[in-house]
Amino acid sequence: MFENVQAAPADKILGLMMQFREDPRDNKLDLGVGVYKDSHGDTPVLAAVKSAELRLFDSQKTKAYVGVQGDKEFCAEMASLVLGDSVSMDRARICQAPGGTGALSILSMLIGRTAPDATVWLSDPTWPNHMPLLKNARLKTQQYPYYDTKNGKLLFDGMMEALSAAKPGDVLLVHGCCHNPTGADLDLAQWAAIADLCLEKGLLPFVDFAYLGFGDGLEEDAAGLRLLASKVPEMLIAASCSKNFGVYRERVGAAMIIAAAPAQAEATFTQLMSVTRAVYSMPPDHGAAIVRMVLTDPHLKSEWITELNDMRNRMLKLRSGFAEALRRESNSSRFDFIADQRGMFSRLGIAPEEIDRIRADHGIYIVGDSRINIAGLPDNRLDEVARAIVSSIE
Ligand SMILES: Cc1ncc(COP(=O)(O)O)c(C=O)c1O
Repeated sequence: MFENVQAAPADKILGLMMQFREDPRDNKLDLGVGVYKDSHGDTPVLAAVKSAELRLFDSQKTKAYVGVQGDKEFCAEMASLVLGDSVSMDRARICQAPGGTGALSILSMLIGRTAPDATVWLSDPTWPNHMPLLKNARLKTQQYPYYDTKNGKLLFDGMMEALSAAKPGDVLLVHGCCHNPTGADLDLAQWAAIADLCLEKGLLPFVDFAYLGFGDGLEEDAAGLRLLASKVPEMLIAASCSKNFGVYRERVGAAMIIAAAPAQAEATFTQLMSVTRAVYSMPPDHGAAIVRMVLTDPHLKSEWITELNDMRNRMLKLRSGFAEALRRESNSSRFDFIADQRGMFSRLGIAPEEIDRIRADHGIYIVGDSRINIAGLPDNRLDEVARAIVSSIE
């Protein structure tokens, strides 16, 4: 069976990480990595998470299966964190999923099962795993223009124009906030226009919500998604807890279905549960139990919010500091967009040979599409990194 199998194409980001590990230079810097880093370059366990974990260790009495939906209290807490009161909860059904990727995958398979002819429209560019997971669900895909990398600008008019070709029943995949890889987000007026478009054309919005709290705040980051949810009859949401709770390896996420009426939500949810039953049967418990404990304990929740605010404020400070350093070094406003964008990522908009030069000459590792992880910037080296970049692109 395996004698004619060709190796899958190498994952570029993982390849870069390997090259970084082997680089002997002391001052090397990895801006390609996809996790939050603090000012020491670490990705620590949050204190609120650690406390919940210790409590869980003491109180847990069984390792029996959690059931196909997962932890119901976790699901209810996630629904209120993400949706607020934008939608009547009897029209919503939520299940726990193994990370945002797990939620995206099972929801994509649900689309494949219930609307196999639908085309899923996704942004160009988008998170590199969207396309493969939609293909795994055997869905048709098309991309809409989203971002002009050269000028650091959102292409909203181009996006809306491309979407005018979408057919009723097609699916519109959008990033809830902190767009990966561009950091360019929709404003509220644009979310409202998207809601109108979905209503007008009968499109199903599918929101990938992986960075809640990493942009401007928990409420602010959810505002666009909630506006959309308050207007459309049906919607899918894949939420991740990997970044905002720092529980990457525990695989915690939630898949949400909103339907026009409670009975439709319930019927669709049974299909989703039948998808998950066949793929992984039951979700893992540990990470979701921790998130549930943090969200239901007022003390832990407020500790978590403080830690989340600290992560976000660090990234906002790095954004403005780095944009300023680049302005000074380049004597231009070319990189000012970095200060206006949100979340962990931005694209520098520089050429592949410039990226190679920055790596070779300065040991700074940047992904081939020029995406950098803002959180990977060391606070005390902004000028040095800006100088290295500017000297390599002139
Ligand atoms: C846009 C986007 N969606 C989903 C995910 C998936 O996150 P998780 O690690 O929870 O599967 C990521 C992670 O990098 C992401 O950037």
